[in-house]
Amino acid sequence: MTIAEPDSATPDIKAAARLAQERVSHSDVPIPHDRRRDIARPPGPSPLRALRGMAAPGAAPWFMIGLERTYPVMAHMRLMGEHAYALTDPAAIVEVFIDHGRQTMKGRGLQGAKAVLGNGLLTSEGEVHLRNRRLVQPAFHRDRIAAYAADMVSLAEAHEASWSEGRTFDMQADMAALTLAIVGRTLFGVDLRGDAREVGDALEALLSGMGTRLLLGPQVLRIPTPARRRALEASARMDAMVQRIIDEHRAMGDNGDMLSMLLAAQEEGVGLDDAQVRDEAMTLVMAGHETTAMTLTWTWMLLSQHPERAEWLHEELDAVLAGRTPTMADMASLPRTRAVVAEAIRLYPPAWIQGRRLLADVEVAGWTIPAGALTFASQFALHRSPRWWESSLAFRPQRWIDADGAFSEDAPGQPRGAWFPFGWGNRRCIGEQFAWTEATLVLATLAQRWAPQLMPGADVTPMPAVTLRTRNGMPMVLRRR
Ligand code: HEM
Repeated sequence: MTIAEPDSATPDIKAAARLAQERVSHSDVPIPHDRRRDIARPPGPSPLRALRGMAAPGAAPWFMIGLERTYPVMAHMRLMGEHAYALTDPAAIVEVFIDHGRQTMKGRGLQGAKAVLGNGLLTSEGEVHLRNRRLVQPAFHRDRIAAYAADMVSLAEAHEASWSEGRTFDMQADMAALTLAIVGRTLFGVDLRGDAREVGDALEALLSGMGTRLLLGPQVLRIPTPARRRALEASARMDAMVQRIIDEHRAMGDNGDMLSMLLAAQEEGVGLDDAQVRDEAMTLVMAGHETTAMTLTWTWMLLSQHPERAEWLHEELDAVLAGRTPTMADMASLPRTRAVVAEAIRLYPPAWIQGRRLLADVEVAGWTIPAGALTFASQFALHRSPRWWESSLAFRPQRWIDADGAFSEDAPGQPRGAWFPFGWGNRRCIGEQFAWTEATLVLATLAQRWAPQLMPGADVTPMPAVTLRTRNGMPMVLRRR
């Protein structure tokens, strides 16, 4: 199926800004504030250091690592006028994010992201979130993932046609194009690369604009910067496009894709209206596209930097697949492929920080953190901590293989709370199995025949945006195996 060309008319920015503000101000639970003076203040950095550490370009992941080393349980700081607690110990993280998960709501960043994502699964709260999670869940059932797996592999093979020996290119942009195609096909049943090329540009504008909001909160929405204008324009274009796709789906009936399932989903005779379907669809595109693209990008970089590990992976691909197209049924026979993906996610977690605002006082390690305070934990810091991981900075995919030779997330022996790439509990990533399947099968498809090499001298310093990316892409040259 192809979709109509996007509107080329300039969107009405004032209307888009009004809509964004409306979406942000919508909250399903009242936001408490931490006005009390007598609250717990375990040691932590000064307000100036905290602001610099969180807001200076590129600094935040390293600042998180510094906190984890200096304050081994938690650190208190004042951040933009609020009390914030960085949780640096796995047990403390489990206490807040899992044991007291229901007494929290999302932090500042995702409140701000409502401007674009509305009240979708990532940003909604309370009862609305629970009901919509039940309605969306069937689209991620095992059988559905198996059906999407066939699309994932066929799109990877089609994508491979653009790869040729010696071609130099930006792997980050290349993987983003592939995962966008996969999301487009599985979610909307359309080719987002062809007619609607503009989706990629709109997403880019939205994601880069959202990076700042994530750290500074929704108030930046009111500051009229060029980035805000670009993000609002992009949001309006995406809105128009998603609405058109919804209208076409309603007219056509079940298309076998995720959007058809969302349109048909009902609980006690009540389904999702167009605005809710739009918010969920937008959320799935945004949450599901760049995260997996970055997982694959960092994976290719690490394989290029560690030829002996690439060799270890190739042995498995040659033995199990021997050149044929992988399928969902091969997943269990590809433990090394999955381990390579897991190790890339450990070192370069696409979701590198997670925040929550407390809705009630919570006891953590002898301190009472008050209702209204912000808490956060960083996957980047915990996944790289020498306290919980042997040779913590080494790329050692073998650590994920258990004594029976199977892939196991428990194999490295890390405590609960030191490994959380997909989050927790009822807010755990709904796309987790989708992402494992996609990353494993795309890697298996392409790494059978290709060993892309990092360009010498490339700057691959991680750069925190919505996901953990690099500042200037990932320049690589294509080499056949
Ligand atoms: C490697 C890839 C991915 C990573 C690392 C990742 C990570 C995460 C994390 C950490 C959260 C929790 C956020 C929080 O609690 O604040 C989350 C939630 C979510 N993710 Fe993913 N994700 C990935 C892929 C996907 C995919 C492929 C999809 C959809 C196709 C998706 C859809 C979602 C949605 C809808 C939520 C919100 C769930 C809820 O709150 O009910 N993600 N993801």
